[in-house]
Amino acid sequence: MGRIAILVILVILILVLAYLWLQGSEIVQPVQFNHLKHTKEVGLSCEDCHIYFKTQRFAGLPSMEICAGCHSEPQGKSKEEAKIVEAIKEGKTIEWQRIYRTKRSVTYSHRLHIVVGKLECKVCHGDIADAIRPPRRPLVKISMDHCRDCHRKMKVSNDCITCHK
Ligand code: HEC
Ligand code: HEC
Ligand code: HEC
Ligand code: HEC
Ligand code: HEC
Repeated sequence: MGRIAILVILVILILVLAYLWLQGSEIVQPVQFNHLKHTKEVGLSCEDCHIYFKTQRFAGLPSMEICAGCHSEPQGKSKEEAKIVEAIKEGKTIEWQRIYRTKRSVTYSHRLHIVVGKLECKVCHGDIADAIRPPRRPLVKISMDHCRDCHRKMKVSNDCITCHK
């Protein structure tokens, strides 16, 4: 009996720790931004807000000026939008958190994959265009296997130094 009790306690402890660990690794954005509304209803393209992916390694998270193009005045009645309108009025910046991040040792370029490789955002970022609130973790996990599987299929180099400098 004693052993079973210890086992049960151990299992509960592991579950609680796993839960806390998952919670801790979740990313909560300061404003519940809605991709679906802006891409499908307002009709903006990814490049309107992530303005660097055609020219740089990074894609960029939007500055307040981009939002101010429409939200200097309220567009609707949502509380989340009100936070944006207020921030713009007060000249404050909304600090978006990064969700996708590779290891420092990795060389990755948006320009190369989008302009030269002609890939869609979806292959690495999933259905973010349809997200009604910010994802709390990557929709597609970016791992070495993910990169290398595609390189193998598309006959791109998989030598270590291609991605690790
Ligand atoms: C109106 C501006 C706007 C448009 C248009 C837009 N985004 Fe975003 N995007 C944001 C904002 C703001 C965030 C940060 C909040 C969030 O995660 O929802 C973000 C976050 C992201 C992220 C997560 C980045 C990270 O690592 O933190 C990805 C990936 C992304 N967008 C892809 C896209 C794609 C693909 C499209 C086109 C289908 C698109 N976005 C269109 C504003 C925009
Ligand atoms: C081209 C115009 C335009 C731009 C640029 C724009 N928005 Fe919007 N946004 C709208 C419209 C239109 C709505 C819909 C208002 C409604 O119906 O409630 C909206 C709604 C919102 C909402 C409320 C969404 C909801 O579902 O409750 C938030 C939050 C928001 N926008 C944030 C942003 C942020 C952050 C940026 C800059 C990264 C941005 N918007 C850029 C036009 C724009
Ligand atoms: C081949 C995979 C791949 C494709 C395709 C891709 N991304 Fe990314 N994206 C990444 C990786 C990897 C990161 C993390 C980069 C880092 O850590 O420097 C990232 C990061 C981001 C970020 C975070 C902020 C930043 O400045 O990098 C945004 C926003 C983003 N991507 C948007 C997009 C959009 C929009 C598209 C389509 C036009 C796109 N991505 C296509 C792999 C991809
Ligand atoms: C869905 C397919 C796909 C995925 C996923 C992908 N790549 Fe690529 N990658 C390509 C293609 C296609 C090219 C070739 C572009 C060209 O024609 O130069 C490329 C080229 C590259 C190059 C330049 C290769 C050279 O020979 O100079 C690097 C570096 C690279 N990728 C790194 C990455 C990393 C790091 C990841 C994961 C974070 C990744 N790639 C994920 C398709 C992919
Ligand atoms: C197509 C791109 C690509 C190629 C080719 C590649 N890697 Fe990676 N590698 C990655 C990415 C992306 C990560 C980071 C994954 C993550 O963030 O979890 C990574 C992570 C690693 C790590 C862990 C690094 C750390 O900082 O934790 C090691 C070690 C590693 N790779 C070794 C190799 C070796 C050895 C080779 C050659 C046999 C190789 N990689 C080839 C993309 C690549």
